[in-house]
Amino acid sequence: MKAVVLREVGGDLALEEWPDPSGIVVDVKAAGINFADVLVRRGLYPQMPTLPYVLGMEVAGLLNGRPVAAFAHAAGGYAERVEVNPGFVFDLPEGASFAAGAAFLTTYLTAHIPLSLAHRAETVLVHAGAGGVGAAAIQLAKRRGAYVIATASTPEKREWAGGRGADDVRGYDEIDDLHVDLVLDSVGGKVFTRSLPLLNPLGTIVAIGFADGLWRDPSVQWLVGRNASVVGVYLNRLVKLQPDYVRACAEELLELWRRGEIDPPIGATFPLADARDAHALIEARRHVGKVVLEA
Ligand SMILES: NC(=O)c1ccc[n+]([C@@H]2O[C@H](COP(=O)([O-])OP(=O)(O)OC[C@H]3O[C@@H](n4cnc5c(N)ncnc54)[C@H](OP(=O)(O)O)[C@@H]3O)[C@@H](O)[C@H]2O)c1
Repeated sequence: MKAVVLREVGGDLALEEWPDPSGIVVDVKAAGINFADVLVRRGLYPQMPTLPYVLGMEVAGLLNGRPVAAFAHAAGGYAERVEVNPGFVFDLPEGASFAAGAAFLTTYLTAHIPLSLAHRAETVLVHAGAGGVGAAAIQLAKRRGAYVIATASTPEKREWAGGRGADDVRGYDEIDDLHVDLVLDSVGGKVFTRSLPLLNPLGTIVAIGFADGLWRDPSVQWLVGRNASVVGVYLNRLVKLQPDYVRACAEELLELWRRGEIDPPIGATFPLADARDAHALIEARRHVGKVVLEA
């Protein structure tokens, strides 16, 4: 079969012959690109895989003719076929596109889990609101009745985040006057630090990603003094260690999708053979929503 193979850190993403997978195999129709894939390509992911390697941890496609969305067993989604994790294969809602299926699981689960666990979330700040996880977070927070402020780097991205339902959209340097109950932060670095003083008493900041650099820890003394908390979310580890919980969350989200209350945020699609262009778009920080490869 054909697969997009990464042979060296920073290297090309070329479509090549690759051994067929075994186990429970999905015929891939669409593969979601996650920011983590970009970090792996650039050698910046904390747990680097051994190369050569086929990226892609979520796909949509056909399992014995049945349209499904699924997590890969161990990456390999940028390919014509992939072995999937049997515990994380879900029927697509009727009429859903494969691209939407590949844009669903990671984005919504990563946003849903901290939102559903939050003590209070009347006012929610979503960083990188025009990204994949951010766009899902805006929709889910609005559904819960929150007032949602989203950040993004350009006017075009802010407009797009507004179109996803954010009540207020801002640049990262325009947030200092905010008071919020919950921050969903997939940016990290200085944005994370700058967000800490915005928390209302009993507020929470959720560390999701470090697109702009690793986090500088707030001191426990500061957290106690401010009645604030920091929560970390790492979906891959939850999938491994709390699979029943994650599956139940996915079923809940699928039901929302079936009822038309959420719709996966596809920003762009590329043929599998153009994976390098899709990564270039994300690395140039020019994408909105989720970028999907179509096989
Ligand atoms: N913890 C988990 O389990 C988990 C699961 C999924 C994703 N994540 C993380 O959550 C984040 C969002 O994931 P995603 O796949 O949906 O990606 P994404 O949001 O579509 O893309 C990353 C976003 O980060 C923003 N950004 C801010 N500073 C950046 C910088 N210096 N370089 C590049 N981008 C920068 C960009 O938006 P602006 O241009 O508007 O700033 C960009 O849209 C990523 O950090 C990812 O690794 C974590």
